[in-house]
Amino acid sequence: MNAARKIEEVRSLVGPARQSGKLIGLVPTMGALHRGHFSLIEAAGADCDFVVVSIFVNPTQFAPNEDLAKYPRRLEQDLAGCRARGVDVVFAPEPETMYPDEPLTEVRVKGLSETLCGRSRPTHFTGVATVVTKLFNIVQPDRAYFGAKDFQQAVIIRRMVRDLNFPVDIVVCPTVREESGLAMSSRNDYLPADQRRQAAALAGALRAGEEMIRREHPPAGEVISAIRVHLAEHAPDGMIDYVQTVDPEDLADVENTGERVLIVLAVRFGGARLIDNLLVEKS
Ligand code: PAF
Repeated sequence: MNAARKIEEVRSLVGPARQSGKLIGLVPTMGALHRGHFSLIEAAGADCDFVVVSIFVNPTQFAPNEDLAKYPRRLEQDLAGCRARGVDVVFAPEPETMYPDEPLTEVRVKGLSETLCGRSRPTHFTGVATVVTKLFNIVQPDRAYFGAKDFQQAVIIRRMVRDLNFPVDIVVCPTVREESGLAMSSRNDYLPADQRRQAAALAGALRAGEEMIRREHPPAGEVISAIRVHLAEHAPDGMIDYVQTVDPEDLADVENTGERVLIVLAVRFGGARLIDNLLVEKS
């Protein structure tokens, strides 16, 4: 496995692989790799001939009041995890490599970036779309892998790829959960033990919502209220940011739960903002 810090290095490693006809897979990450990331790496390894993992805590997707400084950074451990999984190249640039000057160009996916998490993080998805564009241009992968936990991010990136004609297939892999049901996230590390136990209620609340929908297809408002009650009972320290039922394609609110519906939620525990979602398909 090669670890590249510079853009020219990663290009000189990926270029010959592409020229020899290899299918290139990219797994973009911010490091602090966990089983969720490893499932993406394994999916890329199964589909592609040459796997690149990027590890970059992207400053432009954090607002000034957010957790950029304390976001976990464990490069040596991450490199070992990638090596053990047969990754070909890890691209781990410094911020100055990705942003040598104050950038004047941004990629903003209108509408989709302003709803759900975009309401409380208005600059976040523009930071994500811009850095993913840069990573696509640097690595030029055939496929890129993202987790379904960040569902809104995946919808935005798919739309960006379509609007800007990137020749990249976006593969979205299922959320990986801890035994308690808690969706794997690097931000789970911020939670003290008691809140980590409470945070498992996010998945429990989603499942309760799903059962209700399957049983009786109630109006969305009733599902949302039941989820809020579940969270208030089982995660009393959690401050709900939103609970919504949306269309998984365009993230528009869905009232009729007889349709295919994505239940999405975001809850804050102190400085940790956790998100989760569950897709309820028609049975
Ligand atoms: O999902 C993430 O870890 C990040 O948002 C991404 C896609 C690597 C962009 O920085």
